[in-house]
Amino acid sequence: MEKKSFYITTPIYYPSAKLHIGHTYSTVLADTIARFKKLCGYDVYFLTGTDEHGQKLQEAAEAAGKAPKEYIDGIVEGIYQLWELMNIDYSRFVRTTDQFHTESVKKIFDKLYEKGDIYKDYYEGWYCTPCEAYWTQTQLKDGKCPDCGREVYKAKEEAYFFKMSKYADRLIAHINENPDFIRPEAAKNEMMNNFLLPGLEDLCVTRTSFDWGIKLDFDEKHVIYVWLDALSNYITALGYLNEEEQLMERYWPADVHLIGKDILRFHTIYWPIILMALDLPLPKTIYGHGWILLKGGKMSKSKGNVVDPVVLADKYGVDVLRYYVLREMPYGSDGLYSEDNLIARNNADLANDLGNLLSRTTAMVEKYFDGIIPSLHDEGAFDEELREAAMALPRKVESYIDKLDLPNALAEIWRFIARANKYIDETVPWVLAKEEAQTARLATVLYNLLESLRFIAVLISPAMPEAAAKMREQLNITERLMSWESVQKFGLYPEENKVSSAEPLFPRVLSEEEKAKLAKKKQKQDKKFELTETKADKSAEITIEDFAKVDMRVATILKAEKHPNADKLLVLQVDLGTEKRQIVSGIADFRDPAELAGKQIVVVANLKPAKFRGMKSEAMIMAVGDDKESFAILMPEKPAEAGTRVK
Ligand code: ME8
Ligand code: MG
Repeated sequence: MEKKSFYITTPIYYPSAKLHIGHTYSTVLADTIARFKKLCGYDVYFLTGTDEHGQKLQEAAEAAGKAPKEYIDGIVEGIYQLWELMNIDYSRFVRTTDQFHTESVKKIFDKLYEKGDIYKDYYEGWYCTPCEAYWTQTQLKDGKCPDCGREVYKAKEEAYFFKMSKYADRLIAHINENPDFIRPEAAKNEMMNNFLLPGLEDLCVTRTSFDWGIKLDFDEKHVIYVWLDALSNYITALGYLNEEEQLMERYWPADVHLIGKDILRFHTIYWPIILMALDLPLPKTIYGHGWILLKGGKMSKSKGNVVDPVVLADKYGVDVLRYYVLREMPYGSDGLYSEDNLIARNNADLANDLGNLLSRTTAMVEKYFDGIIPSLHDEGAFDEELREAAMALPRKVESYIDKLDLPNALAEIWRFIARANKYIDETVPWVLAKEEAQTARLATVLYNLLESLRFIAVLISPAMPEAAAKMREQLNITERLMSWESVQKFGLYPEENKVSSAEPLFPRVLSEEEKAKLAKKKQKQDKKFELTETKADKSAEITIEDFAKVDMRVATILKAEKHPNADKLLVLQVDLGTEKRQIVSGIADFRDPAELAGKQIVVVANLKPAKFRGMKSEAMIMAVGDDKESFAILMPEKPAEAGTRVK
């Protein structure tokens, strides 16, 4: 059976500046969608590249004292490296200076000229060099460029024009008949109301004021307008009017042109009209995503406020950066970048939710079964619910990704991760591990967790290919079990398969604020220590025998409740291995009792029992901090048998 094709593009970037996290977002988003469609079995073509002509680049090269191509080659090298670092799996990287592209663009121009859609005339207007755009007097905003707000200057030149207006009605009808053509909705309305409905003017499609561009063969002083040149890349890369591999039939029309909202007008008005004039079908969807903003506004090289993706990837890891932009950039609108936010996502979603689910599960399989779960089956409470949540997940994720809505696709996966973590708390494997008779149940619980992790690995693989590969390694499964077919059924995880635990998938990172706080605290403690040290005599030290008098043990919390008559107290029922005990503890302000059940803690077991507001306390929990911020309960680093002595 022939595979269905899927063609997705990013904008081709200007190699005039170091690419920043905004470009990275655009490209990571396209890459993730492309990888997902590939996973689902589509024949995917994913195009990216660079837009290398125009006055801006010519001037930048001059300023650098280099020939344009030489100057650009240096920058493009860095772009290749960035996409390699970010794991961008594109099918082709087009450069508009590539011979095949320039040849096709000339032919496209000729074709439109011969058809009569392009004609020669004079152009007079206000020109904005950075935007490479002419504006009429009425379009100017306070005498400046309406797009970027910069200076414009009066220019007149002999030029060729494209008859935009001829196709306007057809385009309006197309937009109305195809609700998915321009997305999001707000972008569609803006294009309609601000540009199409007021009436289109013919577009000037050549320049004579500089010469770094594709020249007309029949009128050499004219250079083809850089946007006509650039937009054409979406078809020249497929072999349109050139000798390259012929892919138009296989992939055109594009399924998605992914772009930033700043270039919507070019993609939703000029480009479709050019395609109509060429008698080619229109792309199915043009999606204008929002900008990554910094506190001071949009990131831009000229403002000097760019965030360097290479620095972030080095510091936090490629997948953390990929996850952050995909999850935090809202669908269809702008998002605010902050490093603290990135750290918070890393710590909560990645290190804690996903990382812990994997490490807790593999550690238990190793501890209880030496890494290999025996094939024993004992279905129990919560199994069905977990299985159903897993089975429903692929379709939910797919439907969000088809809407290009990555934040919600990832949120669905994380809802399932939370479900699986809760399953551990519900089934309390460490309690099952204590009874011989529960071995089959324990095996089933751990099997269900491994199988859930397999589903998660498959579904995160488009967004986080490296993390998925690491999960696959720890779960020790074949490529086939990472496929889309393999997540149509729950229960394919091989029986009696050896798992291995490894380094945590995502290490926790301290935020700047946390670091500063810790440093301050440490300073204080050091000072205190210095004081006590000078004051202390030898009698303050204790012998190992003294220490041995304190009976500290690992306990598993079975249940936690509010003290019936004291707001600040919680009453915990704990399992100490050989016996159960009740502990009253003043932690009600810091912990919700619901989140404590199932957790393992360290207690002083031989403390003289006491009564608090009428309830007996038979041990003491170990904790640090005395406000909500700093409070933390000491816990064993990995599951330990209840009752184990702390030494
Ligand atoms: O416009 N947040 O190239 P370009 C999100 N060559 N995305 C951002 C961003 C930000 N802060 N800054 C840039 C061009 N982008 C043309 C395209 S296509 C035929 C020609 C993204 O280098 C966004 O997608 O200025 C924007 O549209 C794209 O980078 C263009 O980058
Ligand atoms: Mg731009």
